[in-house]
Amino acid sequence: MTPLLLPLPLFRLISRVIWRLPGTPARKMAEFSHVESGSGLDMLAATEAATDPLLRRKYFRHALDELKHARMFRERARILADSHGRAHAVLEDTGFIGDHGIRSDRSLVEQLGETEFLAFVWLHELAGAAQFEVYAELLRQDPDSTRMFEEIARDERFHIAYSRAELDRLAKAGAPVRRVVWTTRGRDLWQSWGRFAASFGDRMAAIWLTLLYFGLVAPFAMIARSRERLPGGLLPAEAIDPPGAYARRPG
Ligand SMILES: [Fe+2]
Ligand SMILES: [Fe+2]
Repeated sequence: MTPLLLPLPLFRLISRVIWRLPGTPARKMAEFSHVESGSGLDMLAATEAATDPLLRRKYFRHALDELKHARMFRERARILADSHGRAHAVLEDTGFIGDHGIRSDRSLVEQLGETEFLAFVWLHELAGAAQFEVYAELLRQDPDSTRMFEEIARDERFHIAYSRAELDRLAKAGAPVRRVVWTTRGRDLWQSWGRFAASFGDRMAAIWLTLLYFGLVAPFAMIARSRERLPGGLLPAEAIDPPGAYARRPG
């Protein structure tokens, strides 16, 4: 869930609960490292595709920033992970970017075209900056993480400013920027909702299956096992008096 999907106060409230769960900061940072790597690769693809040398330079700086953020999150996740294996597993998951829809085989700029790509960058940078501000607040007791988020926030401000300036330039040149921004926002909301619904569904399925196991399967298994130990009906004589039992009996 991101501020793209939720109003900021609700996002802050939910994050406050989630980030207190043991191992969550490390796991989240491990996940962010993959997201930032994916963004870095998309920005490199945009750098290759850009024809305007000034825009290419901005895309390239943006790509280097995102790859730097990926490294910062990875290092912080490693430090915070401690004994929480889940964060290490996320860090070592080489298929994370593809499996979580962060990137596909075709680059984002190739899929969207320049105007929509810039609208996407601007909206996501705005949402990311708001999101990281909330996390920095939640990790106030951890000065290293707070410093890291502050450094990232400085870079994000540049990403927001230049993508907005490029959209303004395109609007002045007659591109339908306002419509593209609304379309991109709508599609993002829809996709965020789909991701949230899928992960919520997975969690609910896990909870129901656990309840089903402990509420039905486990008690029936225990009853069946206890009945095995106390067989009813006619029993063979050896089951009651093993051979030679009377012979050993004194008297
Ligand atoms: Fe970033
Ligand atoms: Fe960024």
